Formats: sequence, C-alpha cells, structure tokens
Amino acid sequence: MSALSELNREMEQCEDCELSGQRNRVVPGEGSETANLLFIGEAPGLHEDQQGRPFVGPAGHFLDELLQSIGLRREDVYIANIIKCRPPSNRDPLPIEVKACRRWLNRQMELINPKVIVTLGRYSLAQFFPGDAIGKAHGKARTKDGIIYFSMYHPAAALHQGNLRKVITEDMLKIPPLLAKAGEVVAEEQKPEQLSLF
Ligand code: URA
Repeated sequence: MSALSELNREMEQCEDCELSGQRNRVVPGEGSETANLLFIGEAPGLHEDQQGRPFVGPAGHFLDELLQSIGLRREDVYIANIIKCRPPSNRDPLPIEVKACRRWLNRQMELINPKVIVTLGRYSLAQFFPGDAIGKAHGKARTKDGIIYFSMYHPAAALHQGNLRKVITEDMLKIPPLLAKAGEVVAEEQKPEQLSLF
C-alpha cells in the first residue's frame, strides 16, 4: 500500500474534532499520487460526505469542466480540501476544525510533492496567505518554499454569482504556463546531474 493510501486509512479513523461525530464519510482527496498540480478546496459538502470523494457535487462538475478546458482529467491532478469532514449544513469551517485537520493536509503536501498548488476559495487561500483578499489574489501566482501557489475563486462561487464564471474560467487558463515554468525550473536544477551521464 502506498504511503498516501496508508494516510487515507488513518484519516478515516480520525476523531480529532467534533465533525467526526457527524460525518458519513471522511473525504481525504483523490487523484494522482505524483501529481504536479494540487487543488485545495474548502470542505466536503453533502454529495462528498455521502460518496467519500472530493468535488462530486455541482461545484465539482464545474471543476471537471475547468480541468477539461486545460486538457487535464482528475486522474492527472490531485484534489483535496482543507477540511476532510463535512461541516453541518455546509457552514464555514471553524478555526479549531481547520487547525485540527491541518496535519492531514501537511502530510498530503509532503507525499504528493506538487510543483503547483491551486487554492480554491478564501479559506484555502487563508491557509497559505493569511490576510489576503481573494478579490485581489485570484489569478495571481507566487512562489513560496519552492512551490508555485496560484489562487482562484472557489468554483461554487460561480454557481451563486454568475459573473464569476468568466473570471474563474479565465484564471484557469493561466495554469498550464505555470506548470511549464515549474517544469523548466526542475529541469534546470537537474541539468548538472543529467550532464554527468554523458
Ligand atoms: N467544495 C469544496 O470545497 N470541496 C469539495 O470537496 C466540494 C465542494
């Protein structure tokens, strides 16, 4: 069993906060264990809680469309959330829940080791850039600890505010050049080793 599958099994036993008593399923995340691109949403909703899979409701359908627009499928990326269990009635996660759950996300980031992390929505943004406003940060990339972070509005925002659909769709198109740039940085770092093969 892979280290990530092992981690998912541990997550399924988690009782670190009160959400554990109310969930149907833990939603660890899914996708490629070696993905270059990691999407981090907020928390599971009704459908995710029932199926144990991230982004399978209406917001997830939009995320699938967005992935398709840049020629990717779910299997090519990894999709996770800040919170692994559904908050009742989809209320905002409480700071104590975010704190309790953070260790799982940290471990996922270590194991997947993505080159680019896309934060979806303000909760996810706040985990990495506290105090930043999503209205300003969306569509922008910055590097921190060797990872390129790119912030987007949450796909669910487009379901409530139709005008954000275009913004989100346009922001998504900025991801392929970031992946290409991240690849070049890695290739550059590997050059001396590659040369020594000849
Ligand atoms: N919204 C999220 O942030 N995550 C999900 O998995 C589903 C909806």
